[in-house]
Amino acid sequence: MNSQALRVLFVTPECAPWVKTGGLGDVSAALPAALQALGHDVRVLMPAYRAVLGAVRARHVVARLMPSGQFPQAELIAARLPSGVPIRLLHCPALYDREGGPYQDASGADWADNALRFGLLSYAAVALARRGGRAWRPQLIHCNDWQAGLVPAYLHYFPGPRPATLQCVHNLAFQGLFPPQAVATLGLPAESLNAEGVEFFGRLSFLKAGLRYADAIVTVSPSYALEIQREPLGFGLQGLLAARRERLHGILNGIDEREWDPARDAHLASRYDAAHLEAKRANKRALQERLGLPPADDAMLFAMVARITEQKGADLAARLAPRIAALGAQLAVLGTGERAMEQELLAAARAAPRSVAVRIGFDEPLSHLMMAGADAFLMPSRFEPCGLNQMYGQRYATPPVAHATGGLSDTVVDASPAALADGSATGFLFHAPDAEAFWTAIGRAHAAWRDAPTWRALQLNGMAKDFGWGPSARAYARLYETLAAALRASA
Ligand code: ADP
Ligand code: GLC
Repeated sequence: MNSQALRVLFVTPECAPWVKTGGLGDVSAALPAALQALGHDVRVLMPAYRAVLGAVRARHVVARLMPSGQFPQAELIAARLPSGVPIRLLHCPALYDREGGPYQDASGADWADNALRFGLLSYAAVALARRGGRAWRPQLIHCNDWQAGLVPAYLHYFPGPRPATLQCVHNLAFQGLFPPQAVATLGLPAESLNAEGVEFFGRLSFLKAGLRYADAIVTVSPSYALEIQREPLGFGLQGLLAARRERLHGILNGIDEREWDPARDAHLASRYDAAHLEAKRANKRALQERLGLPPADDAMLFAMVARITEQKGADLAARLAPRIAALGAQLAVLGTGERAMEQELLAAARAAPRSVAVRIGFDEPLSHLMMAGADAFLMPSRFEPCGLNQMYGQRYATPPVAHATGGLSDTVVDASPAALADGSATGFLFHAPDAEAFWTAIGRAHAAWRDAPTWRALQLNGMAKDFGWGPSARAYARLYETLAAALRASA
C-alpha cells in the first residue's frame, strides 16, 4: 500500500482539553495528532462554543459561509490544538456562543436547536470540501457520531466532487433523532425522509444518515462492531449495520500515553512506575484523605469514574455499596449524570460514610488521583463501545473489574487460572450485567488482592500492555488510503 500523505478533515462535536463530555473528547485530541505523526495532513473541525472562544486567543478568520436556508452566516477561525494539529472553529454565535454544555443547557435539557447546530457543522464540512481554486480541500472526511452524520448525506443528495467519507460510531445509543420537519430546515430533499434514506421510525436520524451514506463505518472496538449488528445493542439500526458489514470495521481506541502516565502525572501525590509500585500507597492515602475515608491500608479501595448513567451501570455500584462496606472494603465514586442515580449513590455514602465516598461533578485532576490511589477500578457498563478507564487502570496498576462487553472484552484479560499461569491476566470480567455477577467478580478481586504475589502479577501484566494510539492510527490510515484509492478509481 502506498503511504501517501492524505488531507483529512476530522469533524467532531468535542475535543479535549477545550470541550469534553466523555471519551470522544479524548479521541478527538489524540487520534488526529497520531495521524499527523504518521505524515497525514489532518485538520479538525468543531463548533466555536463559548468555552473554546475563551481558550483561543487568536481570531484569524480564514473562510466565511454565507447564510443558506435556515443556516445563519458563519465563519471559520483557524487555530491550533495544544498538540499542534490545526483546527477550524465554526464560529456562529447565534448557535454556539452560549452558557451550558455542547449538547445540553445547564439544566440537562437538550438544546432545542440541536438539529440546526449540528446540521451546520456537517454543512460547513461539505462547504470546505467543495471550495474552488487552490484552497485546502480534504480527500477524506472522518465524521464522528451523529453530530457529523449529515456529511455523507449532503454529499449524496447534492452531487458534485466529493471526498471519501468515514462514519465513526462512538456510541450507537445516541442517534440524533429529530422531528420530520427538520429535513426541510436542514435543506435536505423531502424524498430523503424515507426508510431507505435518513428516516428512522418517522423521524430524521442524523446517525442513520451517516451509516447509510458513508463509504465506511468504523466503531471503536472489534467486539462492539459485532454487537451492534444484533439486538439489543443495534438500537434499531442492526439491520442496516448488518447489511453494510463489509464496510463496517472495529478499530480499538488508544489512550494518550503522556496524559495518562503514572511516572509523570502531575495530579498524583506520588509518581511511580512498574519498578516502584509501593508508591501507590501514598496515592491511596492522599485519596482517602481527600475523600474523608479512613486512611486504612488494609481496606481494599475500589474506584469508579464515569457518567452516572444506566449505560455505565452506576446503579449496580450503588446497589453493591453496602456489601462493599460490609466486606471491610472502601468505594469511591466520581461522576455526574442522571439525578436519581446520583441520589442513590449519595444515599449509599451517607449510610456508610467510613466506607463509601461519592463526589458528583466533573473533576479531571481527581480522576487521575483516583486511578492511582485505588486498588481496583470498577466498570460494570451494560454496554461499552470502547471505554478508556479500563486501559488507564491497567497502566496505573489498578486492575479493572469489568462487564465483558464491547471494548472491555477486547482490552481486559480475566484472571482465570490459565491466564494467571501464562502471564496474560490483567483484571476481572463478569458475563451478565447484573448485581450478582458483578458482586462475584468483586469478591474474586478482593480475594486476589489479599494474595500479594497474585495481585502484583496482575498489576505488572497490565502495566506491560501497549495501549498507545500507534497501532490504531495505522489501522485508520490504512483504511483512509483504501477509501481514497477506491474513490479515485471510481472517478
Ligand atoms: P464515555 O465516553 O462513554 O463517557 P469513556 O470511558 O470512553 O466513556 O471516556 C470517559 C472519559 O471521561 C474518561 O477519560 C473518564 O475518566 C472521563 N470522565 C468521566 N466522568 C468523569 C468525571 N466525572 N470527572 C473526570 N473525568 C471523567
Ligand atoms: C463513547 C463510548 C465509549 C468510548 C468513547 C470514545 O462515549 O461510550 O465507550 O470509549 O465514546 O470512543
